[in-house]
Amino acid sequence: MSLDTDADPPILPEGGPGEGRPYIIVVGNEKGGTGKSTTAMHLIVALAKLDFRLGSIDLDARQSTLSRYLANRREYAEESGEALEMPEHRSVLRSERELRSEAEAEDRDRLRGAFADLANCDFVVVDTPGSDAYLARLAHQHADTLITPINDSFLDIDVLAQIDRRRREVVAPSRYSQMVWEQNNRRVLSGQPPIDWVVMRNRLSHVEARNKREIAALLTQLAKRIGFRLAPGFGERVVYRELFLKGLTLLDLPEAEGPGLAPNPSHMAGRAEIRALLQTIGLSEKPPRAATTGGTTAAATTAADAEPPATLSNP
Ligand SMILES: Nc1ncnc2c1ncn2[C@@H]1O[C@H](COP(=O)(O)OP(=O)(O)OP(=O)(O)O)[C@@H](O)[C@H]1O
Ligand SMILES: [Mg+2]
Repeated sequence: MSLDTDADPPILPEGGPGEGRPYIIVVGNEKGGTGKSTTAMHLIVALAKLDFRLGSIDLDARQSTLSRYLANRREYAEESGEALEMPEHRSVLRSERELRSEAEAEDRDRLRGAFADLANCDFVVVDTPGSDAYLARLAHQHADTLITPINDSFLDIDVLAQIDRRRREVVAPSRYSQMVWEQNNRRVLSGQPPIDWVVMRNRLSHVEARNKREIAALLTQLAKRIGFRLAPGFGERVVYRELFLKGLTLLDLPEAEGPGLAPNPSHMAGRAEIRALLQTIGLSEKPPRAATTGGTTAAATTAADAEPPATLSNP
C-alpha cells in the first residue's frame, strides 16, 4: 500500500472526532460472511434511534448488502407509511484503473469525497468487504472504533491469529491483525487517537458447549496480546436473516407481535445484545444536543466519556 505523502490531501480534516469531523465506526473483518453488514445496519439504526445524526458508507459496492438493506428500508417506509430512521448513505465503488498507483489515488479521492459529504454527521458507520482491499485498509486507518464480528468457531479465530490446535494456544497473529496494527500506527503517527478495536462473537449458539468455552478462553488470551476489547456478541437468531427484505432491524420491531401477546423472548434478548454492544463502545446515551457548541459535536462528548481505548500492541 502506498504511504501517505505530503502531496496527498488527508482523507479526513485534522483533529479528533467532534473537532470538525464525525466519529467513525468501521465494521471490518477480511473473512466473508461473519455478520459485518448485519452488525453495521443494526448499529446505524440503534444510533439513529438515539437521535444521533447518522452517515453510512458501503465500501462493498460490488455486493452492496448494506446499500440494498437501506434501499429496502426506504421502500418499506414509503409503502407502510412508518417513519423509519434513515442515515445519509454513500456507496463507494472501487476504482477499476489498471495502474495500481492510479487506482489507489482514485480510491482515496472517492473515500475522501464520501467523508466530506457526511461531515455534518455525528457518526459515520462504514461497512467493508470481506477481503483484503485497499479501500478497506484505508477505512481501517480512519476507524475511531473498529468492530470485528467473528463467527464462533476456531476457523474464524484464524482471521485474528494462528492457533496451536493441540495446545489451544495463540502461536502468531494473523495478517489481518497485523494490518490493523499497521493502520493504527499510521493513524497515531498522523496525530489521531489509537483505534479502539472491539471484537464481537456473532451467531453464538444457545447451548453451553465445550467449544464455546474454549473459544472464549482463546479470545481472552488474544485480546490481551493484541490489544482489542471483547464485546458480548450476538446470538444465532433467525430473525436477523428475515429482516433484510423489509430493511428492518430488531430495534424496529414492536415489543410483542400483537396486542395482548407476550413479548418475543428471542427479540428481547437480541435487543439486549445490541444495547450491550453500544455500551461496550460507550455510545448508549442520547447526545446532549443543547450542550453542542462551536464544532464540538455531541457524539464526541459521549464517545470521549467512554472507557478509554485499549492500546494496540505489536502483534
Ligand atoms: N446473529 C445472526 N444470527 C443469524 N444469522 C445471522 C446473524 N448474523 C448474520 N447472519 C446471517 O449471516 C449471513 C452473513 O451476514 P452478513 O451479510 O451480515 O455478513 P458479512 O460479513 O457482511 O458478509 P460479506 O463478507 O459477504 O460482506 C446473512 O445471511 C445474515 O442474515
Ligand atoms: Mg457484507
